[in-house]
This record gives sequence, C-alpha cells and structure tokens, in this order.
Amino acid sequence: MKKPVRVAVTGAAGQIGYSLLFRIASGAMLGPDQPVILQLLDITPSLPALNGVVMELDDCAFPLLAGIVQTDDPKVAFKDVDVALLVGARPRGPGMERKDLLEANGAIFTAQGRALNEVASRDVKVLVVGNPANTNAYIAMKNAPDLNPANFTAMMRLDHNRALTQIAQKTGNAVTAVKKLTVWGNHSSTQYPDIFHAEVNGKNAAELINDQKWLEAEFIPTVQQRGAAIIKARGLSSAASAANAAIDHIRNWVLGTPEGDWVTMGVPANGEYGYNDIIFGYPVTCKDGKYEIVQGLSVSDFSRARMDATYKELSEERDAVKHLLS
Ligand code: NAI
Repeated sequence: MKKPVRVAVTGAAGQIGYSLLFRIASGAMLGPDQPVILQLLDITPSLPALNGVVMELDDCAFPLLAGIVQTDDPKVAFKDVDVALLVGARPRGPGMERKDLLEANGAIFTAQGRALNEVASRDVKVLVVGNPANTNAYIAMKNAPDLNPANFTAMMRLDHNRALTQIAQKTGNAVTAVKKLTVWGNHSSTQYPDIFHAEVNGKNAAELINDQKWLEAEFIPTVQQRGAAIIKARGLSSAASAANAAIDHIRNWVLGTPEGDWVTMGVPANGEYGYNDIIFGYPVTCKDGKYEIVQGLSVSDFSRARMDATYKELSEERDAVKHLLS
C-alpha cells in the first residue's frame, strides 16, 4: 500500500465540500491505489455541520480513506499537507461592494498563506477555488515566501470544462473530440475562452465552426456568464461541477495531461504572453507533478483585446489588495 497523501480542504462543510470530499475519498482525484488523509477546515460555527459530513464519510467505509482531521485551526488543517484545496471563502453579502469582498477574503487568504508557509509540505500543491479565486491565490502565494510561488494556482478548470461542452454541442461531437482549448485570464466575467487554437477531431475549431456571430454573441458570453446562469436556475452557485473541476485540476497536475492536449490552470504570470505579477488562466501541460505554460501560441488582435481586458481587471484586483501583501 502506498503512503497516504495528506489533502487539506477548507470550507469543507460547504456546498462544494459536500461534493468534493466523497470523490477525493473514493480515489477520483489521486487514483484508485492512492490512500488519502483528509484534513478538513471550517470556521467554528460550521464545525457541527462538518462533523455531520465526517459521519457520512465514515459511513461510506472508503477503502482509500486512511484518516480524517476536522478543525477550525489552519495550522492543524495544513500540517504536512501535500495538496491544499482552498474552497472556503466569504460570499458576497447584501450591499457588499467588490472592494469589500476583496478585503474580507484578503484577510482569510493572508492567514491561510501564512499557515501553509509554516506547516505544509515544502512541495504542497495549492488550488484556490474560493472567489475571487485568482486574487485569493495571489494573496496566499505572497504570504508564503518560503514556498515555491509556482505551487499556488487558481481554478479556471470549471470555465475550461464549460467551454469544452459548448464546443462539443455546437459541432455535434463528444467532449473527448475537443482539445487544446484555453480560458485566458480571470475566473470572472472578463475571462476569455479561446477557440482559435482549439481542435475538434484534429481540425481547427474556429475554422470548423466558422461562425463569428456565434463566437461573439453566444459562445463567449455563455461561458463567461455560466456561473450567474446557474445561480439564477438553481438558487445556489455551482457546486458539483465546481468540485468536479477541482478534482480534474489536481488529477492532471499530479498525474499529468494526455499527450496532444492541454488544460487551463490559473498560475503565476511571469511575463508569458506579456503578463506579469498576477495569477492568470493559461494553457498548461503537466508531467511528473509539474505544469508548464504552453508557449508560442499566436495571438490575433481579437484575442489580444480580450486577454488584455481580463489582465487589466486582475491587475486592478491586485492593486486593491496590495496593502495585505507581505
Ligand atoms: P458555501 O457557502 O456553501 O461554503 C463555504 C464554506 O466555507 C462554509 O462552510 C463556510 O463556513 C466556510 N468558510 C468561510 N470562511 C472560512 C474560513 N475563513 N476558513 C475556512 N472555511 C471558511 O460555498 P460553496 O458553494 O461551497 O463555494 C465556496 C467558494 O467557491 C465560494 O467563494 C464560491 O464563490 C467559490 N466558487 C468558485 C468557483 C471557481 O470556478 N473558481 C466555482 C464555484 C464556486
């Protein structure tokens, strides 16, 4: 039996947690022969609900679940963790401006970055799901100076998966036919889902679809606004699909991406495609537990304008939280 991998999940008593934990424990994230120890964090008032979730995890008798920790202390939750899924965040309340949301979450991700810096495995892979995910990941990264900045990532995979299905449905193919899609930028309504390098059954997706009106008036807005559409329909934000995307993100990071394809991850920008000092959605390939940004893709004026717009928003978010960075 392999040594268990320690996986921290924050906001574990929440909606996404309720979909995520059972799939991690079943082996969907790290593979069918990899035992896991779940280290679950939530705030003190949510601990009774978290205990209920833990009772259900116990009742599944998952063969791969080698232990469970439940706590309201980040230093306990992050002790020696190999993977940290930062899902818990402060939702936007009535009358709360974007600035207030950034501030409230800034405090959470400052503390969690520091705790990771102090007690997590030196190779910890961090995925921030809680919104605003890219900027929260940036704050955690900046507050963890002893960890490799490359190990702080934000979730763009739900956007990526949403776009895959839109293209598959438009072209009448299975999602497996669609490859090399990218969602550039921020996990927000400025994100830019890019089909110009995507392929459907090996053919260029933009050329195959050849429908600029659909691209501009349907595809891009549908992907950008999908989160809001789900809230409108369900009365709650996407949870099972968000958990699924988190599983996909970590599985590819740890176990690799398939040959001839790439995925979107929010990762630190170090000049790639002209962007810097933010966490940006990029096309990446993964191998041996490391990701690499796909370089050298051509960028048309149409794409550049949209990539610059989402970069501008991320730069403004970063500037609004500058005072929280160590
Ligand atoms: P939820 O409100 O059901 O659960 C959030 C949980 O986090 C609650 O149990 C709460 O007690 C906990 N929490 C709050 N502050 C915390 C802290 N400081 N430390 C630990 N736990 C804390 O929310 P849900 O639906 O599970 O969503 C979680 C986050 O994920 C939200 O910020 C949401 O906007 C975001 N999200 C991100 C997506 C993405 O694609 N990046 C997609 C969908 C949701």
